[in-house]
Amino acid sequence: MKTILDGNRLTLGTCYYPEHWPETMWREDLRRMLAVGIEVIRVAEFAWSLTEPEEGVFVYDFFDRFLDLCDEMGMKVIFGTPTATPPAWLTSKYPEVLNCDRNGVTYRHGGRRQYNYNSLVYQTLSARIVEKLAAHYASRACIIGWQLDNEFNCETNEYYSEADGAAFRLWLRDRYHTLDALNDAWGTVFWNQTYTSWEQPDVPRPNAARTINPHLMLDYLRFVSDSTCRFASMQSRILRRYLKPDDFITTNGMFGHMDNHRMAEESLDFYTYDSYPNFAYCLDSWKAGDTGLRDRGWSRSLTETRSVSPVFGIMEQQSGANGWNTRMEAPTPRPGQLTLWTMQSVAHGADYVSYFRWRTCTFGTEIYWHGILDYSGRDNRRLREVGEVHDRLKKLEGVAGSRYVARVALIKDYDNCFDAELDRWHERVAWQSEPAIFAACQRTHTPIDYVYIDHTDLKQLSRYSLVFYPHPVIMTEERAELLRQYAEQGGQVVFGCRSAYKDIHGRCVMDRLPGLLSRLTGADVPEYSFIAPDAGRVTADWGGDELEAAVFTDIVTPDNGGTQEAVYTADYYAGSGALVSKRVGKGCAWYYGTAFTEQAARVFLRKLGEAAPYADVIDLPEACELAVRSGEKGDYMFVLNYLKESAAVTLKKPCTDTGTGETVQGPLTLPGYGVLVLKL
Ligand code: GAL
Repeated sequence: MKTILDGNRLTLGTCYYPEHWPETMWREDLRRMLAVGIEVIRVAEFAWSLTEPEEGVFVYDFFDRFLDLCDEMGMKVIFGTPTATPPAWLTSKYPEVLNCDRNGVTYRHGGRRQYNYNSLVYQTLSARIVEKLAAHYASRACIIGWQLDNEFNCETNEYYSEADGAAFRLWLRDRYHTLDALNDAWGTVFWNQTYTSWEQPDVPRPNAARTINPHLMLDYLRFVSDSTCRFASMQSRILRRYLKPDDFITTNGMFGHMDNHRMAEESLDFYTYDSYPNFAYCLDSWKAGDTGLRDRGWSRSLTETRSVSPVFGIMEQQSGANGWNTRMEAPTPRPGQLTLWTMQSVAHGADYVSYFRWRTCTFGTEIYWHGILDYSGRDNRRLREVGEVHDRLKKLEGVAGSRYVARVALIKDYDNCFDAELDRWHERVAWQSEPAIFAACQRTHTPIDYVYIDHTDLKQLSRYSLVFYPHPVIMTEERAELLRQYAEQGGQVVFGCRSAYKDIHGRCVMDRLPGLLSRLTGADVPEYSFIAPDAGRVTADWGGDELEAAVFTDIVTPDNGGTQEAVYTADYYAGSGALVSKRVGKGCAWYYGTAFTEQAARVFLRKLGEAAPYADVIDLPEACELAVRSGEKGDYMFVLNYLKESAAVTLKKPCTDTGTGETVQGPLTLPGYGVLVLKL
C-alpha cells in the first residue's frame, strides 16, 4: 500500500492557495511553514481558470513558477484536480453541466460543486483538464501525490439535471434489463406507477404526495454513488498514466450518498478525511449542559475513515475559528485544542495531518474560516502550537504505519445506510443505536472499528471477538452466511431490533422475522411496535441487569435452538422476550429486540467480556479517550482529555511517556485538552 512520504514518520502539511496571495509572499510563506515543520502543501483544487482561462487555451506559467519555488525550497506538494469549481466560461457556454435541485431549478455559477457528474460535456472537459495538468506537472520532483476534485458530494449529494435523468434511465436498463423486472423490484403496481417504456422512469421529481417510491429512492442513491465513483475513477485512470511511480492518489471528505470503500478500491491509494471537530462548538448548535461526545464525536468520522483506509491522512485539519460569512460561526480553538484534535486524528490512524489553511483568506465566503495565521500573517499562538505538535510527532516515529487496535466492531453496509436515510422507521432505530454503541465504547475505553460487510470477508471479520450489527434491516443470503461463519469460528454477533425485514430492493419480506437471520439467531419475532410515546421508561431484565430499551420493541422468543436471555419489564409486553441467544459453533449470536441506548450497549460490552481491555494498564476518567496503535515498532497508547479541566489518570504498569522519554507509573495529571502518548 502506498503511504504519504515514505510511511516512516508522521508528517504535517497545510492547505495553501498561492492564487490568494501576491507572488512576493510565496517564498517567505514556504520558509515559515518549513520552519515549524510543515513539509507538504495541498494546492490548486479550485484553480481551473489559472490553467485554462479560455476554452481549449492552456497556460502553465502560474503553477510552473510556484512549483519551481517548491522544488527549490524542498516543499512537497499534493496537487488537486480542479473539477469542484468549473470556470465561468464553461458553465455559461454549457449550462447542461450544471446540477439542479429536485424542482429542476438550476444551480448557477458561483459557490462550488454546482456541476453534475453525468453531463458528457463536463466529463469530457474534466478529463481534458486533468490530463493537461497531469501531463504538464506530474513529473515535477516536488509533487508527491494528487487529490481528486474536492470533497465529492459536499454542498449537495443529490443530482437532478437532465443529464442525471438520462443516465439514471441507462443505469436502470443495465441493472434490470426488462421493464417487468424493474416494475417488480420497485413494486410499481402500488399507486399505479407501472412503467411501460424506458423513457418513463426518472430521478426523483416533485409530486403531490411529497413522497417518492422508496425502492426507486434506494436505487437512486445507489445511482448517485455509482456516478460519483465513476467520475472519480475517470480522473484517477488518467492520472495513473502520468504519475511518478511513488506518487499517490487520494481524495478528501467524506460525504454521503457514495460508497467510499468502492471509490478507494477503484481510484485511490488511501483516503484523506477533513476533520473539523470545532463544529461541536458552533454558536447556533451549542446546547448548554450537552452531555454528548461533542468534539470527541469526530472520532466516529475518523473510525469511519479508518474503515476505508486503515492508515489514512487528514487533508484539512481544524486550525482556527470556523465561519463562512453566512453561517457556521465557532470560536477560535483554545490553547491545546489544535494539538488535541491533531492527536485525535493520529490516534485513530492518520499518518499525515494537513491544517486548513495556512493564511486566513481576506476575501470571499470563507473570510471567517481561519487558518493557522490570521489576516495579517504575523506569528501567533496557533503557529507556535503547530511547531509544538511537530516536536511531539518527531518523538512518535514508531507510530507511522501502525494500526489502530480494536476487538469490537460495528458492522454497517451501504444498502442499509441509504435505506436509513429514506425510511423513517429505519432511521429512528439506526440513528439511535450507532451513536449509542460508539459512545458506550468511548466512555468504557473499549476501542471499536467500523466494518462494512459489503467490503469485508471472514478473515477480516475474524479479527474481532464481538461485532454489533445494530439494525441490518436489509439482509441478503450472502451476508447472513458470512455472519454465520463468523459466529461458527468463535465470534459473537449482536443484532438489534428490525433486523432482516427487507430484501435488497427495500421490499418487506413475508417470512417470519427476523427473516434470513432466523436460523442464525434462534429468534422469532411474533410481534413488534414502536415504543408508544406515553409508555414511559421501558426496560428489560437480563439476569438481574437492567437494559434500557429505546425507540422500538420486537418481542423476541426462542426458536431454532435459541435461549431466552432477557424479558421486558414494562408496558403490556412485560414478561415477553427481549433478548435471545444461540450458540453457533464456537461462537454465539444474539438478537436484542430494541434499539441500543448507551446504557444497554455498556451492559452488552461488560457481560460479553469486551469492555475496557486496557483496564490492567490504565485507569482513566470517562471524559478521556483511549486509543492504541500497534505496529512493528511497538504499541502506543493515546490518552486524550477533551475537557478544559485537568484529568487524573493512574498508570498501573510502567510505560514510557513519549513526550519526555521517561518511564512513568502511578498517578498522573493530564491538563485540560492534554494528550499523553505512552509506549507500552
Ligand atoms: C472544507 C473544504 C474547504 C473549505 C473548508 C472550510 O469542506 O474542503 O475548501 O471550504 O471546508 O469551509
